[in-house]
Amino acid sequence: MNNDLEQKYHFACELAKQAGLIAKGYQNQLLEGNLAIDVKGHQDFVSDADRETEKYIRTQLESAYPQDGFLGEESGATDEYRTGVWVVDPIDGTTNFLRKQSLWCVSIAYLVEGEPVIGVIYDPNLDELFHARKGEGAYLNGKPMEVYQGSEAVVGLVNLGYSPKMPLDNYLSTMQRLLDNGIEHRRHGSAALGLAHVAAGRFDGYREDFINAWDIMAGVVILREAKADVATNQIEGGYTIQASIPAITELLAG
Ligand code: IPD
Ligand code: CA
Repeated sequence: MNNDLEQKYHFACELAKQAGLIAKGYQNQLLEGNLAIDVKGHQDFVSDADRETEKYIRTQLESAYPQDGFLGEESGATDEYRTGVWVVDPIDGTTNFLRKQSLWCVSIAYLVEGEPVIGVIYDPNLDELFHARKGEGAYLNGKPMEVYQGSEAVVGLVNLGYSPKMPLDNYLSTMQRLLDNGIEHRRHGSAALGLAHVAAGRFDGYREDFINAWDIMAGVVILREAKADVATNQIEGGYTIQASIPAITELLAG
């Protein structure tokens, strides 16, 4: 099983990089005005870039690991599987992607019995691969990452996500608590990249009160291995997520 996981880990790292380059190719088409965009819902968009990138990832995984299951943002889930399940967001930060901005990424996780054990997040714009396997540490392009373990936040910068599925008051009160304690906030619009950036020490925390599995599973492994405090709760239709350096865990939770 361990060898198998090691092989899957390397496979996922390479796959995320290839998929990132495919998605980047679509963004280049977008810059030239050659990409159609569909509206899924309020502030929820999709394009061939998302669909085709996910199709590529799914085909590669199904051919390499036919016994594994798959859950993707665009193509849904396999009904039955015998081993673990791959949880994939082909482009996290789709709105940024479609608005010709650069904060978006590919996110691939592998779960065994519901627990994420491999997490890979690739930012093709900066050629940054955030990767971790349970028990083996977290890395950025092969270099180990660990979050600040001190008891006081030095700079104080948190990335927040907002979902219209939760009361606006939750979001506003988190923001207020942070500001009252001298901690600044950003909303970058890619949960997966936001989580990866906490692991890399670029933010002290990330919080979002309604989020889908494909947005967070890879980040959860990376953050746990980077020794961040990570809390996810399953709620109706999704999850809550909070991840941070230990010094601000209580404050961020409220
Ligand atoms: C969204 C982004 C956003 C987060 C949303 C996600 P998408 O994913 O991660 O930052 O706030 O909850 O749905 O639509 O860009 O793949
Ligand atoms: Ca997403």
